[in-house]
Amino acid sequence: MTDSLVSALASPEERDAEASVRPKRLSEFVAQERVREQLEVLLHSAMRRGSPPDHILFSGSPGLGKTTLAMIVAAELGGALRMTSGPAIERSGDLAAVLTSLQAGDVLFIDEIHRIAKPAEELLYSAMEDFRVDVMVGKGPGATAIPLDLEPFTLVGATTRAGLLTGPMRDRFGFVGHMEFYTSAELAVLLQRSARILGVAATAEGIAEIAGRSRGTPRVANRLLRRVRDYAELRGDGVVTVTAARAALKVYDVDQAGLDRLDRAVLVALVELFGGGPVGLSTLAVAVGEQPDTVEEVVEPFLVRAGLLARTPRGRVATAGAWRHLGKNPPNGTFGSGTTGVPDLFSADSQPDT
Ligand SMILES: Nc1ncnc2c1ncn2[C@@H]1O[C@H](COP(=O)(O)OP(=O)(O)O)[C@@H](O)[C@H]1O
Ligand SMILES: [Mg+2]
Repeated sequence: MTDSLVSALASPEERDAEASVRPKRLSEFVAQERVREQLEVLLHSAMRRGSPPDHILFSGSPGLGKTTLAMIVAAELGGALRMTSGPAIERSGDLAAVLTSLQAGDVLFIDEIHRIAKPAEELLYSAMEDFRVDVMVGKGPGATAIPLDLEPFTLVGATTRAGLLTGPMRDRFGFVGHMEFYTSAELAVLLQRSARILGVAATAEGIAEIAGRSRGTPRVANRLLRRVRDYAELRGDGVVTVTAARAALKVYDVDQAGLDRLDRAVLVALVELFGGGPVGLSTLAVAVGEQPDTVEEVVEPFLVRAGLLARTPRGRVATAGAWRHLGKNPPNGTFGSGTTGVPDLFSADSQPDT
């Protein structure tokens, strides 16, 4: 498997380092002004009323701050945080046990909530709506449902794929926060904060170099900062300068545009194996030896935002920018006269991909 900078899979040391720079309160959370202000109103008005706020859903690409915000919600409310994830809830009984153990004002965080099993999801409906669950006792014809009241709690869900949530599930969230990719300027602010916390000396240019190559993603920015620091400590005087940043990013295979190895593997496959596309997601994923989910959730959102890849009804397509990024001339005639470089493949009879 090709490793990716954004992957949530990290060594224990990486996790500790990530935790040390994680903002604890809303006021420390950088950028995402819209989501931050909306949350502030939601949380503080609920606190004034003395009742738990509506259930909250955060959606967005990996590494943009969903887990961090879930922790902040609990901290701001002063409630305990219980964390689990969709794939971890195998039986609805497991979820019932968690729900019935919640205290008033607790926050239950379910990561990857789009992956929750159907029976557990249905149990969650009544828990979210009426603060009650029907617990099944016994099996077969003699089984009975025992209704149990729950303490009022707040559910915080996170998903990289809001589109995969069922309608009833989405409807039960009173607030949905969409996390956007960060600008380089925002990441620079974030990195200054991280450098201060980690005790790393850095020049403004060094920080800017890292910020511009972090895929618009805080997790990536923080990881690159640590890698550049390592490099600077070993090969330089320990200061994160633009020279150290450039040299280290070369070692770690991050290119000018911030694309990592997996990002580039996808682009290279698209352009060199499939002539620029269109090609289906699963075919593309096989070509780079990755899961389709990883390509779709981790790689593509950034490539799309960077204007290098387009998702069309007939499949994935390399833009003119992608060809140029790989040092190639886009094939003549494919891109028409538009300046976006996105080919016109949206004909009326085409079928959606995947
Ligand atoms: N707005 C932000 N301000 C400061 N740090 C952030 C912000 N968003 C994310 N981070 C940092 O990035 C890392 C990844 O964030 P996380 O909440 O785990 O992302 P997600 O759950 O969306 O994958 C965390 O270590 C956190 O410190
Ligand atoms: Mg997370």
